[in-house]
Amino acid sequence: MIEFRAAASEGLSSDAIVVGVGEGRRFDAAGSVLAEKMPWLAVHLDDVEFTGKVGQVVVVPGGDAVPYRNVVFAGLGPAPDLEQVRRAAGGAARSLAKCATVATTLHRSVPAAAEAVGSGFVLGAYTFTRHKTEKKPSAIATVVLIDGTEEEVAAAAIGGLVGDGVNLARDLINEPAMGKSPVALAERAAGIAAEFGLGIRILDEQQIVAERLGGLRGVSLGATNPPRLVELRYEPPGAKAFLAVVGKGIVFDSGGLSLKPADSMETMKTDMSGAAAVFAAIRTIAALGLAVKVVGIAPLTENMPGGSALRPGDVLQARNGKTIEVLNTDAEGRLILADGLSLAAELEPDMILDLATLTGAISIALGEKIAGLFGTEDATASVAAAAAAAGERVWRMPLPDDYRKNIDSDVADMKNTGTRYGGAINAALLLKEFVGDIPWAHLDIAGPARAAEAEHYVPKGGTGFGVRTIVELARRMA
Ligand code: BES
Ligand code: MN
Ligand code: ZN
Repeated sequence: MIEFRAAASEGLSSDAIVVGVGEGRRFDAAGSVLAEKMPWLAVHLDDVEFTGKVGQVVVVPGGDAVPYRNVVFAGLGPAPDLEQVRRAAGGAARSLAKCATVATTLHRSVPAAAEAVGSGFVLGAYTFTRHKTEKKPSAIATVVLIDGTEEEVAAAAIGGLVGDGVNLARDLINEPAMGKSPVALAERAAGIAAEFGLGIRILDEQQIVAERLGGLRGVSLGATNPPRLVELRYEPPGAKAFLAVVGKGIVFDSGGLSLKPADSMETMKTDMSGAAAVFAAIRTIAALGLAVKVVGIAPLTENMPGGSALRPGDVLQARNGKTIEVLNTDAEGRLILADGLSLAAELEPDMILDLATLTGAISIALGEKIAGLFGTEDATASVAAAAAAAGERVWRMPLPDDYRKNIDSDVADMKNTGTRYGGAINAALLLKEFVGDIPWAHLDIAGPARAAEAEHYVPKGGTGFGVRTIVELARRMA
């Protein structure tokens, strides 16, 4: 955990200083002072073509000229906003992994930036070292806000807390499937519940049958590891609203009998990113003490092709009574979400938000960095606004009624596949059958849940996408 504090620039020394630079190499006051004391700087920045573009980070040794071992210039672009500040802090953190104390003036680069500075540093300093024999975690322990106020330090700490939540989700997502069976993941959730005094209900395989969670049970049939359903409850006194969040928790997606090709399976330990976001967000919301009731529901199972696996053509009955013909066992996310959403709807919350690495098709539509946002008018508007404020990219997608026939089945109420074109829409239309008349938003996070390469505050691998949007949504409802 990174500690945030404030200090005057007079007499300050540190392992590094990070200053933001606007496009066209516009320095802030601290940057100008540094440039004056380091007369070689302008030539160096010319040599490495540093202009202050978004994402540019340059580390210059401070030498004897300044009381900082390293001087970092982070590009903020032509019109800096909170997200550029977050990215600058994250990019700086990633290039200062050996520095313990980092001073910065980034919190002054745009109004109210301190929280973005806090989350940017914590997110950028993330590493997943659990399975390395030689661990090289980031050394950053303290971030000093130069001339920062008490309010700015508090805001940075809140940003850091949200960043810690995202990093928890990243840890869960990056963990190999063999280390996060449904039972093990449910135990992690129980640990969070114990730590924050949250309510928790964990359904085992018998209870899953008794509670008629036919979708979750069906998907679990081919796996040796038994399924679980986790319900985490944060119920503060004086809650102003009630949010239900549902997360897809496929701890490994082999495709089942509709087996995936080997290379498509390589990243399928990340198919529980929705569930990870739900657990991490509730933990963060409880840590912030927000005045909103939040219930998180995560159906957890492997999707495996064992001898008792679901067969193409099988029919399942979900919690709300509706039947689904399973034509492709690799379209398993919607089967377990059918039950998760039914349970959420029964609780009659003000809004249901689900997060799922649901379809490859959404990445065809939007690329790998933007989530698809589906659902009712009111809920999607709230989620879009929260995501924009939190710095997560989502894009509204349609749910046309006349596409419903794409999932008509010959033998059941619906089938779990549709046309290949519009595959993400077909999946969302199936989910819609299980939310009743509750305001509902669905985020298909199959693209942004995972990053193929590191950039700014996003590491390679699990990104923890969705945590910040859920937390921001809860803040706005509280
Ligand atoms: N977990 C996958 C979706 C996915 C694909 C997530 C790539 C992240 C990266 C999901 O369960 C799946 O397999 N969906 C199928 C649905 C199809 C069989 C209708 C898909 O998208 O191909
Ligand atoms: Mn699948
Ligand atoms: Zn899946």
